[in-house]
Amino acid sequence: MSLEKTLDQINLKSACIEIYGLGYVGFPLTVRLASNDLKIIGIDINPDRINRLENNELMDSEINLESEYLKCRENANIKLQKHPEESSNSKIGIICVPTPIPDKNTNSDIFVISAVNSFLSKAKSGDMLVLESSIEVGTTEKVQKIIESKGFKVGNNFGLCFCPERIDPANKEWGVENIPRVIYCSDDLTFKIAKKIYENVNQGNLLRVSTHKVAEIVKSFENAFRLVNITLVNELAILCDSLGVNVKEVIDAAATKPFGFLAHYPGAGAGGHCIPKDPRFLLESAKKRNSNFETIEHALKINEYMPKYICNSIENKINAMGLKKIVLVCGLAYKANVEDMRDSPSFKIIQEMKKRGFIVYGHDPFFDSNLSKKYLIENHISELNFKNLKNIDDESIKEISCLCVVQHHDESKTRIKEIYDNSVIPFIYDCQSKLQKNPQSKSQLDFLGN
Ligand SMILES: NC(=O)c1ccc[n+]([C@@H]2O[C@H](COP(=O)([O-])OP(=O)(O)OC[C@H]3O[C@@H](n4cnc5c(N)ncnc54)[C@H](O)[C@@H]3O)[C@@H](O)[C@H]2O)c1
Repeated sequence: MSLEKTLDQINLKSACIEIYGLGYVGFPLTVRLASNDLKIIGIDINPDRINRLENNELMDSEINLESEYLKCRENANIKLQKHPEESSNSKIGIICVPTPIPDKNTNSDIFVISAVNSFLSKAKSGDMLVLESSIEVGTTEKVQKIIESKGFKVGNNFGLCFCPERIDPANKEWGVENIPRVIYCSDDLTFKIAKKIYENVNQGNLLRVSTHKVAEIVKSFENAFRLVNITLVNELAILCDSLGVNVKEVIDAAATKPFGFLAHYPGAGAGGHCIPKDPRFLLESAKKRNSNFETIEHALKINEYMPKYICNSIENKINAMGLKKIVLVCGLAYKANVEDMRDSPSFKIIQEMKKRGFIVYGHDPFFDSNLSKKYLIENHISELNFKNLKNIDDESIKEISCLCVVQHHDESKTRIKEIYDNSVIPFIYDCQSKLQKNPQSKSQLDFLGN
């Protein structure tokens, strides 16, 4: 087999594509490619995930893909497996596994390397690997060395790409299908094969960059840009609080400048699997070169501090109002309208409140108590020390003195407004300044950023 043959087979849709990691990134990609009649093997080491997919049990965020998924299962374009298998056809492995924050026990590439080795255990000449996971600078080169240690020659009889995913969950305007992608490819033939695959994803809208390092830095830099800008407005919100100025009014006014300004809005801090993590890869790279990346270091520090700042503001107000320390934290996911609870600032607020002796309740329409163990791991905590309220009707929240809204999910928006308008809870702290001040309400409404 050769890369020329693989190009022929991808043109004929007879090549076998293995997608490693069927999570937020890998699953939609699987459905997209399979819906375009490519033959996909979805591989995940989590048996629970495979079982649930085999039983057609999708996550909330995947429901919009349900009918396409079921069609692909029916016409056998998607096969689900825990391990790869040999194929006489060309094979293309696409790696969509997690990248943890590196520490002294774990490298960020631990899952990527494991998935690469898994693919290579059944690979042959002419096959190709695409890394979609976010990775540290140098990981693509490390993968190349592993491939070559098996006797293949990257760029000659084996293709290698890094094509980082840019998906923005719950973004209605920009989805997998219209977000342009950056790609590094080991050689021209591999680029042609990648282009053919991504025609089914984003119409092949790929910007090919000259080296893997460029692509690796681009991915981390994009998220560093977000983190630093979010931090900038969060620090501005803290200043505005002390000046008694509304930060949103400041930002909206600044945003009328038609050039050189990009509006970001304050919140309890950036969470999720990407923004608080990927910038660390640049920091690590700098440290390995005995240098520093102080903007990122500072942004990460402020991001960590935001939940504490919010708790200070709430505690001070509760004391001033003579209220009991009973709080309801609403919107536990890291972002509005997603079910993803990874590294969510709400969990940090809850931990901090508990330390300060608060009784804490939590509510999120996406919260699933069957996934409690998962939430613990994803938020690096040992217990979910709050009482989950499925229902936030008047009776269920009658004891609560403060409602802290971290995320305004569409599903809970109306009820939160009603709680404020009807003065059901004496004090409301809105981390996102989304509630409209209502002079008729007897509740005290504070925003992060006045
Ligand atoms: N979620 C996002 O919004 C997003 C956006 C852009 C980039 N990314 C990046 O994409 C990558 C994947 O993120 P995600 O959110 O889809 O993660 P996820 O945790 O939702 O899914 C990853 C899946 O990979 C599986 N897995 C782990 N090791 C494996 C292996 N060796 N072989 C096969 N499966 C394995 C896990 O069981 C899990 O189901 C990460 O690098 C992330 O930083 C994520």
